[in-house]
Amino acid sequence: MKKILVTGGLGFIGSHTVVELQNEGFEVLLIDDLSNSSESVLDGITSITGKKPTFTKLDLKERSSVENFFKQHEDISGVIHFAASKAVGESVEKPLLYYENNLNTLIYILKEVIGLKDSNIIFSSSCTVYGQAEKMPITEQAPTQPAESPYGNTKQIGEEIIKDTCRASVHLKAIALRYFNPIGAHSSAKIGELPIGVPQNLVPFITQTAAGLRDCLSVFGDDYPTKDGTCIRDYIHVVDLAKAHVIALKRLLNKDNTSNFETFNIGTGVGSSVLEVIKSFENVSGKSLNYKIAPRREGDVISAFADTEKANTKLGWKAQSSLDDAMRSAWKWEQKIRNL
Ligand code: UD1
Repeated sequence: MKKILVTGGLGFIGSHTVVELQNEGFEVLLIDDLSNSSESVLDGITSITGKKPTFTKLDLKERSSVENFFKQHEDISGVIHFAASKAVGESVEKPLLYYENNLNTLIYILKEVIGLKDSNIIFSSSCTVYGQAEKMPITEQAPTQPAESPYGNTKQIGEEIIKDTCRASVHLKAIALRYFNPIGAHSSAKIGELPIGVPQNLVPFITQTAAGLRDCLSVFGDDYPTKDGTCIRDYIHVVDLAKAHVIALKRLLNKDNTSNFETFNIGTGVGSSVLEVIKSFENVSGKSLNYKIAPRREGDVISAFADTEKANTKLGWKAQSSLDDAMRSAWKWEQKIRNL
């Protein structure tokens, strides 16, 4: 049984990926510093898979702790590195915190991974690296644009750091997955997204509004040059996204990769407007959502959806769930955690 380290494994995408790894027979070592997650997520994972991953509370900013951890686990076959801070607004206020949290930790992890017999790493990147791309759908060849925020910059610089390290250490194999907009929850409603405070992202704001925690959703702008004036995004079910990590990992383990640093877009290929997301929520929940049109949000791109050809053909991965499926699971999860 191959041993896989998942950093940030109690977070939204991390926890769903741990489930899929365990379902595929991998042994999971899970690290999390609990800064934006709860240890109770372990119970959800255990209840779904019937197996408790080995959890270590560890702050990846502590270099010596990272070194010690890897000394104890020299037989790790691959690392899936999720641990990072992800609040765009906060990153503008506290850039150094973001560079330290997201880049120092990546460097410490890479230093250890290149010392392993099996040097395989999957990195959480983001479609944010493309900024407002000129052409839709966005292919992996689209040029990256100057980042809008320190958070976005950490994803771009993170990719560069890995690429340079792959060039220098040819035994290191890495895949950066560029996520579009992950939403939804596990169909069991035993794990899902747990935003702290007021959600900044659309879908948790919708479900919290419907659950009565928020009065009204603000739709940020309806005068964009799009089909209905609202922004377009590619919303990907978190379970589909989690499966993409397992497939990417297997690609490295089976040595199917064609270069030692690869990037893949992980999205559905379908662009949905904010109003279409609201409509989907209303359809699957049978509830009418209280929303109003508000001014545009600074930093928002007009449209971003993935060209999934490379992921479909080279990686052999394709999103299975529709927007409705994802919204249904997000609502089921919200109802569960609010005891509705
Ligand atoms: C945001 C981040 C992005 C990050 C991603 C992580 C910004 C500008 N971008 O992406 O860097 O990688 O989250 O998931 O924060 N919307 C509303 N009302 C709301 C919330 C959102 O209308 O209350 C709209 C937004 O204008 C956007 C769409 O919904 O058009 C999706 O927004 P969001 O969920 O925040 O994702 P992104 O902005 O795409």
